[in-house]
Amino acid sequence: MFQYFILLLGLHVVITNGATSVNRLYPLDGRIVGGTNTSIKEHPYQVSLLKYGSHTCGGSILKTGNIKTDGFFVITAAHCVTPYTPQNYAVKFGITALNQLSPIALVDVIVRHENYNPLTSDYDIALIKLRNQIPFSTSSQPIRMSSINPADGTAAVVTGWGSTSEGGSLSPTLQAVTVKVVDPIVCATEYAPYGVITERMLCAGVPQGGKDSCQGDSGGPLVADGVQIGIVSWGLGCAKPGFPGVYSRVPSLYSWIQKNVKILGAL
Ligand code: ARG
Repeated sequence: MFQYFILLLGLHVVITNGATSVNRLYPLDGRIVGGTNTSIKEHPYQVSLLKYGSHTCGGSILKTGNIKTDGFFVITAAHCVTPYTPQNYAVKFGITALNQLSPIALVDVIVRHENYNPLTSDYDIALIKLRNQIPFSTSSQPIRMSSINPADGTAAVVTGWGSTSEGGSLSPTLQAVTVKVVDPIVCATEYAPYGVITERMLCAGVPQGGKDSCQGDSGGPLVADGVQIGIVSWGLGCAKPGFPGVYSRVPSLYSWIQKNVKILGAL
Protein backbone atom coordinates (compact mmCIF):
# COMPACT_ATOMS: atom_id res chain seq x y z
CA MET A 1 0.00 0.00 0.00
CA PHE A 2 2.75 2.37 0.97
CA GLN A 3 4.67 1.51 -2.16
CA TYR A 4 1.57 2.08 -4.22
CA PHE A 5 1.19 5.49 -2.65
CA ILE A 6 4.78 6.42 -3.47
CA LEU A 7 4.28 5.26 -7.03
CA LEU A 8 1.10 7.27 -7.37
CA LEU A 9 2.81 10.27 -5.87
CA GLY A 10 5.67 9.88 -8.32
CA LEU A 11 3.26 9.65 -11.21
CA HIS A 12 1.21 12.55 -10.01
CA VAL A 13 4.27 14.70 -9.65
CA VAL A 14 5.50 13.88 -13.11
CA ILE A 15 2.19 14.08 -14.91
CA THR A 16 0.83 17.33 -13.51
CA ASN A 17 3.59 19.79 -14.15
CA GLY A 18 6.75 18.02 -15.09
CA ALA A 19 10.03 18.28 -13.28
CA THR A 20 9.59 21.78 -12.01
CA SER A 21 6.73 20.66 -9.83
CA VAL A 22 8.91 17.93 -8.37
CA ASN A 23 10.91 20.80 -6.98
CA ARG A 24 7.84 22.64 -5.76
CA LEU A 25 6.48 19.61 -3.95
CA TYR A 26 9.73 19.23 -2.07
CA PRO A 27 10.82 22.78 -1.45
CA LEU A 28 13.91 22.46 0.66
CA ASP A 29 16.97 24.49 1.39
CA GLY A 30 17.07 26.83 -1.57
CA ARG A 31 19.86 28.56 -3.52
CA ILE A 32 22.83 26.87 -5.11
CA VAL A 33 23.03 24.80 -2.01
CA GLY A 34 26.31 24.54 -0.16
CA GLY A 35 28.06 26.94 -2.50
CA THR A 36 30.06 30.10 -2.02
CA ASN A 37 29.97 33.62 -3.40
CA THR A 38 31.86 33.88 -6.64
CA SER A 39 32.63 36.49 -9.28
CA ILE A 40 31.49 36.55 -12.87
CA LYS A 41 35.19 36.79 -13.79
CA GLU A 42 35.56 33.19 -12.56
CA HIS A 43 32.59 32.10 -14.69
CA PRO A 44 32.33 34.69 -17.48
CA TYR A 45 30.09 32.40 -19.57
CA GLN A 46 27.23 32.64 -17.04
CA VAL A 47 24.22 34.75 -17.98
CA SER A 48 20.85 35.55 -16.45
CA LEU A 49 17.86 34.92 -18.67
CA LEU A 50 15.20 37.55 -18.04
CA LYS A 51 11.53 36.91 -18.66
CA TYR A 52 9.29 39.99 -18.53
CA GLY A 53 12.31 41.83 -17.12
CA SER A 54 13.06 39.51 -14.18
CA HIS A 55 15.53 36.68 -13.70
CA THR A 56 13.89 33.40 -14.64
CA CYS A 57 16.80 31.07 -15.36
CA GLY A 58 20.51 30.76 -15.92
CA GLY A 59 22.21 30.24 -19.24
CA SER A 60 25.63 30.28 -20.85
CA ILE A 61 27.28 32.06 -23.77
CA LEU A 62 28.00 29.48 -26.46
CA LYS A 63 31.37 29.30 -28.15
CA THR A 64 30.78 28.77 -31.85
CA GLY A 65 33.18 28.07 -34.68
CA ASN A 66 33.18 31.61 -36.00
CA ILE A 67 31.64 34.24 -33.77
CA LYS A 68 31.75 36.87 -36.56
CA THR A 69 29.64 34.94 -39.01
CA ASP A 70 27.58 32.73 -36.67
CA GLY A 71 26.23 35.43 -34.38
CA PHE A 72 25.78 35.24 -30.62
CA PHE A 73 24.04 32.36 -28.86
CA VAL A 74 22.98 31.39 -25.38
CA ILE A 75 22.30 27.83 -24.21
CA THR A 76 19.58 27.28 -21.62
CA ALA A 77 16.94 24.71 -20.65
CA ALA A 78 13.82 24.17 -22.77
CA HIS A 79 11.65 24.48 -19.65
CA CYS A 80 13.01 28.02 -19.21
CA VAL A 81 11.52 29.29 -22.45
CA THR A 82 7.80 28.83 -21.98
CA PRO A 83 6.03 30.75 -23.46
CA TYR A 84 7.96 30.57 -26.62
CA THR A 85 8.02 34.22 -27.56
CA PRO A 86 11.43 35.91 -28.11
CA GLN A 87 10.14 39.39 -27.28
CA ASN A 88 9.43 38.37 -23.67
CA TYR A 89 13.06 37.48 -22.99
CA ALA A 90 16.41 39.21 -22.65
CA VAL A 91 19.88 38.20 -21.53
CA LYS A 92 21.95 39.92 -18.86
CA PHE A 93 25.66 39.16 -19.04
CA GLY A 94 28.88 40.21 -17.30
CA ILE A 95 27.29 40.59 -13.87
CA THR A 96 28.07 39.14 -10.44
CA ALA A 97 25.22 40.82 -8.58
CA LEU A 98 21.85 40.04 -10.09
CA ASN A 99 20.55 43.58 -9.60
CA GLN A 100 23.68 45.15 -11.10
CA LEU A 101 23.00 47.50 -14.00
CA SER A 102 24.34 46.03 -17.21
CA PRO A 103 23.78 46.04 -20.92
CA ILE A 104 21.08 43.63 -21.98
CA ALA A 105 21.01 41.53 -25.13
CA LEU A 106 17.65 41.09 -26.80
CA VAL A 107 16.48 37.77 -28.17
CA ASP A 108 16.13 37.17 -31.88
CA VAL A 109 15.13 33.50 -32.12
CA ILE A 110 14.49 30.72 -29.62
CA VAL A 111 14.78 27.09 -30.66
CA ARG A 112 13.55 24.54 -28.17
CA HIS A 113 14.56 20.95 -28.78
CA GLU A 114 11.80 19.41 -30.89
CA ASN A 115 11.78 16.31 -28.67
CA TYR A 116 11.54 18.25 -25.42
CA ASN A 117 9.06 16.50 -23.14
CA PRO A 118 7.77 18.62 -20.26
CA LEU A 119 6.41 15.53 -18.51
CA THR A 120 9.74 13.77 -18.30
CA SER A 121 12.14 16.71 -18.83
CA ASP A 122 13.82 14.74 -21.59
CA TYR A 123 15.73 16.87 -24.16
CA ASP A 124 15.62 19.88 -21.82
CA ILE A 125 17.63 22.25 -23.99
CA ALA A 126 17.02 25.44 -25.91
CA LEU A 127 19.21 27.60 -28.08
CA ILE A 128 18.76 31.36 -28.09
CA LYS A 129 20.07 33.54 -30.88
CA LEU A 130 20.71 37.06 -29.68
CA ARG A 131 19.79 40.20 -31.54
CA ASN A 132 22.77 42.10 -30.13
CA GLN A 133 26.44 41.29 -29.94
CA ILE A 134 28.04 40.51 -26.60
CA PRO A 135 31.30 42.41 -26.18
CA PHE A 136 33.73 39.88 -24.78
CA SER A 137 35.77 40.92 -21.76
CA THR A 138 37.09 39.45 -18.51
CA SER A 139 33.42 39.32 -17.42
CA SER A 140 31.85 37.86 -20.54
CA GLN A 141 33.29 34.98 -22.52
CA PRO A 142 31.81 32.08 -24.45
CA ILE A 143 32.23 28.47 -23.32
CA ARG A 144 32.75 25.38 -25.44
CA MET A 145 30.27 22.51 -25.25
CA SER A 146 31.66 19.07 -24.48
CA SER A 147 31.18 16.33 -27.07
CA ILE A 148 32.61 13.68 -24.77
CA ASN A 149 30.80 12.08 -21.84
CA PRO A 150 32.57 12.76 -18.55
CA ALA A 151 33.73 9.81 -16.46
CA ASP A 152 31.80 9.03 -13.27
CA GLY A 153 33.29 10.99 -10.39
CA THR A 154 34.45 13.90 -12.55
CA ALA A 155 34.37 17.12 -10.52
CA ALA A 156 32.23 19.84 -12.07
CA VAL A 157 31.16 23.30 -11.00
CA VAL A 158 27.63 24.64 -11.28
CA THR A 159 26.82 28.33 -10.92
CA GLY A 160 23.73 30.49 -10.61
CA TRP A 161 21.56 32.94 -8.73
CA GLY A 162 19.09 30.25 -7.69
CA SER A 163 16.65 30.90 -4.84
CA THR A 164 17.99 31.31 -1.32
CA SER A 165 14.90 30.14 0.51
CA GLU A 166 11.96 27.83 0.10
CA GLY A 167 9.99 29.07 -2.90
CA GLY A 168 11.57 32.40 -2.11
CA SER A 169 14.11 34.93 -3.17
CA LEU A 170 17.09 34.48 -5.43
CA SER A 171 20.69 34.78 -4.34
CA PRO A 172 21.74 38.39 -4.93
CA THR A 173 25.30 37.24 -5.67
CA LEU A 174 26.43 34.57 -8.10
CA GLN A 175 27.06 31.24 -6.33
CA ALA A 176 29.28 28.34 -7.30
CA VAL A 177 29.45 24.79 -5.99
CA THR A 178 31.52 21.77 -6.97
CA VAL A 179 29.75 18.45 -7.42
CA LYS A 180 30.69 15.10 -8.95
CA VAL A 181 29.29 13.24 -11.93
CA VAL A 182 27.22 10.28 -10.67
CA ASP A 183 27.07 6.87 -12.34
CA PRO A 184 23.87 7.02 -14.47
CA ILE A 185 22.78 3.54 -13.39
CA VAL A 186 23.06 4.48 -9.73
CA CYS A 187 21.19 7.72 -10.40
CA ALA A 188 18.44 5.95 -12.37
CA THR A 189 17.96 3.52 -9.48
CA GLU A 190 17.70 6.32 -6.93
CA TYR A 191 15.22 8.23 -9.06
CA ALA A 192 13.24 5.18 -10.22
CA PRO A 193 10.11 6.00 -8.12
CA TYR A 194 10.04 9.57 -9.39
CA GLY A 195 11.16 9.69 -12.97
CA VAL A 196 13.28 8.20 -15.71
CA ILE A 197 16.91 9.14 -16.19
CA THR A 198 17.33 9.11 -19.95
CA GLU A 199 20.47 9.23 -22.09
CA ARG A 200 19.94 12.97 -22.42
CA MET A 201 20.37 13.40 -18.65
CA LEU A 202 23.43 13.57 -16.46
CA CYS A 203 23.38 13.36 -12.67
CA ALA A 204 25.79 15.24 -10.45
CA GLY A 205 25.93 15.72 -6.70
CA VAL A 206 27.69 14.59 -3.56
CA PRO A 207 26.69 11.36 -1.78
CA GLN A 208 26.07 13.06 1.57
CA GLY A 209 23.92 15.77 -0.05
CA GLY A 210 24.20 19.42 0.89
CA LYS A 211 25.63 20.61 -2.42
CA ASP A 212 23.43 21.12 -5.45
CA SER A 213 21.82 23.53 -7.84
CA CYS A 214 18.27 24.58 -7.05
CA GLN A 215 15.25 26.56 -8.29
CA GLY A 216 16.28 29.56 -10.35
CA ASP A 217 19.53 27.88 -11.40
CA SER A 218 17.84 26.03 -14.26
CA GLY A 219 19.32 26.53 -17.68
CA GLY A 220 22.68 27.32 -16.10
CA PRO A 221 25.97 25.61 -16.89
CA LEU A 222 27.66 22.61 -15.28
CA VAL A 223 31.32 22.85 -16.24
CA ALA A 224 34.18 20.37 -15.96
CA ASP A 225 37.75 21.16 -17.02
CA GLY A 226 36.65 24.36 -18.75
CA VAL A 227 33.96 22.81 -20.96
CA GLN A 228 30.22 22.64 -20.37
CA ILE A 229 28.93 19.13 -19.72
CA GLY A 230 25.46 19.87 -18.33
CA ILE A 231 22.51 22.25 -18.16
CA VAL A 232 20.62 22.59 -14.85
CA SER A 233 17.33 20.77 -15.44
CA TRP A 234 15.58 19.17 -12.44
CA GLY A 235 15.87 17.22 -9.20
CA LEU A 236 13.93 15.96 -6.22
CA GLY A 237 14.10 18.96 -3.94
CA CYS A 238 17.62 20.27 -3.66
CA ALA A 239 20.75 18.78 -2.13
CA LYS A 240 19.01 15.75 -0.61
CA PRO A 241 21.35 12.82 0.03
CA GLY A 242 20.79 10.14 -2.62
CA PHE A 243 19.14 12.58 -5.02
CA PRO A 244 21.74 14.32 -7.15
CA GLY A 245 20.85 17.21 -9.43
CA VAL A 246 19.76 16.15 -12.90
CA TYR A 247 21.29 18.03 -15.83
CA SER A 248 20.74 17.90 -19.55
CA ARG A 249 23.66 15.87 -20.88
CA VAL A 250 25.52 18.20 -23.27
CA PRO A 251 27.50 15.52 -25.18
CA SER A 252 24.21 13.79 -26.09
CA LEU A 253 22.85 17.08 -27.41
CA TYR A 254 26.06 18.28 -29.05
CA SER A 255 25.07 17.51 -32.63
CA TRP A 256 21.66 19.15 -32.12
CA ILE A 257 23.44 22.33 -30.95
CA GLN A 258 25.82 22.29 -33.93
CA LYS A 259 23.04 21.72 -36.41
CA ASN A 260 20.89 24.52 -35.05
CA VAL A 261 23.73 27.02 -34.77
CA LYS A 262 24.29 26.40 -38.46
CA ILE A 263 20.62 26.90 -39.28
CA LEU A 264 20.20 30.04 -37.16
CA GLY A 265 23.61 31.42 -38.10
CA ALA A 266 22.49 31.44 -41.72
CA LEU A 267 19.35 33.44 -40.95
N1 ARG B 1 13.92 23.19 -12.25
C1 ARG B 1 14.74 24.08 -11.48
C2 ARG B 1 14.70 25.47 -12.08
O1 ARG B 1 13.83 25.73 -12.89
C3 ARG B 1 16.13 23.54 -11.30
C4 ARG B 1 16.18 22.53 -10.24
C5 ARG B 1 17.47 21.87 -10.09
N2 ARG B 1 17.35 20.98 -8.99
C6 ARG B 1 18.32 20.32 -8.43
N3 ARG B 1 18.08 19.64 -7.37
N4 ARG B 1 19.51 20.36 -8.94
O2 ARG B 1 15.40 26.37 -11.68
